[in-house]
Amino acid sequence: MSFQIAIDGPAGAGKSTVAKSVAKKLQFVYVDTGAMYRAIGLNCIKNDVDIHDEEAVLKLLDNTNVSIKYIDNEQAVILNGENVNGQIRTQEVSEAASVVSAYKLVREKMVALQQELAQTTDVVMDGRDIASCVLPDAQVKIYLDASVEVRAKRRYLELIEKGKEADLKTVEDEVRERDYRDMHRENSPLIRVPEADLVDSSYMTIDEVVNTIVAKAQSKFDE
Ligand code: DC
Repeated sequence: MSFQIAIDGPAGAGKSTVAKSVAKKLQFVYVDTGAMYRAIGLNCIKNDVDIHDEEAVLKLLDNTNVSIKYIDNEQAVILNGENVNGQIRTQEVSEAASVVSAYKLVREKMVALQQELAQTTDVVMDGRDIASCVLPDAQVKIYLDASVEVRAKRRYLELIEKGKEADLKTVEDEVRERDYRDMHRENSPLIRVPEADLVDSSYMTIDEVVNTIVAKAQSKFDE
């Protein structure tokens, strides 16, 4: 069996930065599952499909092909033959992904793809339901958290750095809203499975978080 590291947690906890770095250190493949839900959200926007109309989203899903490719060790999400990496990081796509990822059939399709990727390859996979649903037998399970205030501040600074206008209080409200949606949906809500190690990144550097996870993995290699 392949070696699997599952990293779950809320938006803004630093999952993707950390997961990417852990994968590089261990020479594993990094799988960003959020990017797949973002591709589904983007597809709805491109096709003018109302994301709140589940039936319409599912109809479109039938004609949607999402796959993953690795280009220079970077994950590329391919939506109906097109590399959409450059289009999935907007606020609009993020909102759409959060809504469509709540639909059962959307999840089933993405989870099957994620499980297939992890079957024969050593992976670091991040998302919301990796330990609870996608890779329940992962050798290392991490729940990466940070306080709402810290996550909102990170997001706010990111926006300012990009030259965008932002208001800290509004960003904080958005973070709370997305947490609520991700944690309270009926299908595969974000949870910390009892066996997952909690890592709170609020006052840790990225290197500290990465080293903590790499050490946990290394202790499992030796078992
Ligand atoms: O991690 P992210 O911000 O790229 O995720 C985008 C959305 O997709 C987010 O609202 C939660 C959802 N998601 C999910 O439901 N399950 C996953 N495994 C990953 C992301």
